[in-house]
Amino acid sequence: MNSNNSNSIESVLQEQRVFPPSDNFSSKSRISSFSKYLEMSEMAKSDPNKFWGDAAREELHWFKSFNKVLDWSNPPFAKWFDGGKTNISFNCLDRHLNSSTADKVALIWEGEPGDKKKYTYKQLHKEVCKAANALKSIGIGKGDLVALYMPMVPEAAIAMLACARIGAPHSVVFGGFSSEALRDRLINGEAKAIITADGGFRKDKVIPLKDAVDQALGGGACPKVESVLVVQRTKKNIAMDDGRDYWWHEIVDSQADDCLPEQMDSEDCLFVLYTSGSTGKPKGVVHSTAGYNLWSHLTFKWIFDIRENDVYWCTADVGWITGHSYIVYGPLSNGATTVMYEGVPRPSNPGAFWDVIQKHKISIFYTAPTAIRAFMKAGNKIPNQYDLSSLRLLGTVGEPINPEAWIWYRDVIGGGRCPIVDTWWQTETGGVMISPLPGATPTKPGSATFPLPGIEADVVNSDGDSVANNEGGYLVVKRPWPGMMRNVYGDEKRFRESYWEYLKPSDNSYMYFAGDGARRDEDGYFWVMGRVDDVINVSGHRLGTMEIESALVSHELISEAAVVGRPDDLKGESIVAFVTLRTGAEANENIEAQLKKHVVNEIGPIAKPDEFKFTDSLPKTRSGKIMRRILRALASGDEISGDTSTLEDRSVLDKLRS
Ligand code: WT7
Repeated sequence: MNSNNSNSIESVLQEQRVFPPSDNFSSKSRISSFSKYLEMSEMAKSDPNKFWGDAAREELHWFKSFNKVLDWSNPPFAKWFDGGKTNISFNCLDRHLNSSTADKVALIWEGEPGDKKKYTYKQLHKEVCKAANALKSIGIGKGDLVALYMPMVPEAAIAMLACARIGAPHSVVFGGFSSEALRDRLINGEAKAIITADGGFRKDKVIPLKDAVDQALGGGACPKVESVLVVQRTKKNIAMDDGRDYWWHEIVDSQADDCLPEQMDSEDCLFVLYTSGSTGKPKGVVHSTAGYNLWSHLTFKWIFDIRENDVYWCTADVGWITGHSYIVYGPLSNGATTVMYEGVPRPSNPGAFWDVIQKHKISIFYTAPTAIRAFMKAGNKIPNQYDLSSLRLLGTVGEPINPEAWIWYRDVIGGGRCPIVDTWWQTETGGVMISPLPGATPTKPGSATFPLPGIEADVVNSDGDSVANNEGGYLVVKRPWPGMMRNVYGDEKRFRESYWEYLKPSDNSYMYFAGDGARRDEDGYFWVMGRVDDVINVSGHRLGTMEIESALVSHELISEAAVVGRPDDLKGESIVAFVTLRTGAEANENIEAQLKKHVVNEIGPIAKPDEFKFTDSLPKTRSGKIMRRILRALASGDEISGDTSTLEDRSVLDKLRS
């Protein structure tokens, strides 16, 4: 069953190989057999209130217990654990302080230049309390939204926990987004304060975060923002605005190291995190306090089968949901040791990840398929120089993983002995939804396998009816779960329309539409096939094609733009932009460079189109809708299949082909 040479990789594509967990792994694991998994799922299904209620009581600390497990009387708005009072920062810190966990390392951090820090639970608690008191001292309190625009430094996690402690929802904006993208999010969320840094190190360069904050706030664009807290990271020269900006070390370090956590209602908002949707405007995904806490906690415990001595590392950035749930909240709520690394593999250190694993004796490693494919392409020589024997479990997230990459990951990184958990989920789901349990589930390379206990996932047609095995359809979730998003910030209509009213089941029931296509095979395994809406997945990051299109048409030379994804060996999908120029403008290399720069300015480097196709007109239906299906085929060099009779002007096709 083990394939330790790369010659066997090809055959995997044809075969349906199954990798059961080893006895050695299973015997020590929490959920140690497939029948146990089935038993849990059955319990959750037959009595969900008992299942979730027991879990919430056993796994979380409550200042006041809840009256009701789930209130689904006003779908799609769910209330979980109503009447309860809790605080996620208490669950992540304080409750570990009267056990031996108090002196256990909570957070290991390494900077890109190689500087390191470690915090025990006791120390982290103190830092979070100081930061919480500092936030209060500048007038931040319960209900005030705080935006974070941070590099991967410990203060990012500390700031998130500090906000949670005082009941101020956080909204982390990925540090790779541009000042324009930051500004949109600050305005939409009505942020009252920003926590940032003088810069961050990335690929041996300094990312000027504070400069971007200044630009975002320029011209009074965000009148609600009263203060900016700046962590000193790079010592780069930055401007400080007297009445508005504070150095973190100047106002945090001197605070008292104790701060009572705010007793939050279960349904109080914990954070807002923006994600791309099929329209041009990013959606502020709203997560609640208790439900999110329970789901990130439980999924972390089940999927990573966490044990006392594990050193766990997730390579995501805290700016994404993966960083929220599986660098900060899930691991800390479980009392685990979590690693945070500022760097990424780069020409000056291509083995950076393997070096971190060797140095910190990482036992559980969680990363993205795009990274695995890049490593695979660079060859075995680099990882083979490092001692990776501390690893016992590997995970992936962000996009479908192709079987070759899965096998390579298993053999070259996991030495053939580590189970792989391919975890399907989304910003909206709060935590993992479909994934193997490493001691229980026989895995198939490329499949996220089965829904977790309590998750009723299905593959349906547009009427909401289940499709037959091996037939493609829409991936849905048919029952509420604690970690589900509660709303789109300030836009109930969009919440309903994007997720709950897209499909129209004949019985008018509510099912959650994830936006992904999937099929289930003859054994019931889920195979996620990718997005079915106008969203593309580039290197595990979701980008709305409309968002990139609006950025393009905001350029003075562009009259119309349509953006599609094209399959890409490394990135999953690459971005192809079809653009029509305004009369008089001419396509040349210079325009391409200008347009790329423009998109980088408007959104950020991750949204930069890889290729431009200039055209006089775009293929449209008679009602004026761009036929993206045709553009996708053209971009990938595929035959245009399916009906083209609704095209308004068929000559457009011939022109585009030439
Ligand atoms: C979209 C969600 C949730 C963490 C990172 C991305 C795709 C995610 C998988 C997987 C196939 C996956 C889906 C999903 N996706 N994980 N294991 N297999 N596809 O979060 O930015 O909210 O994106 O990522 O298309 O809808 P996100």
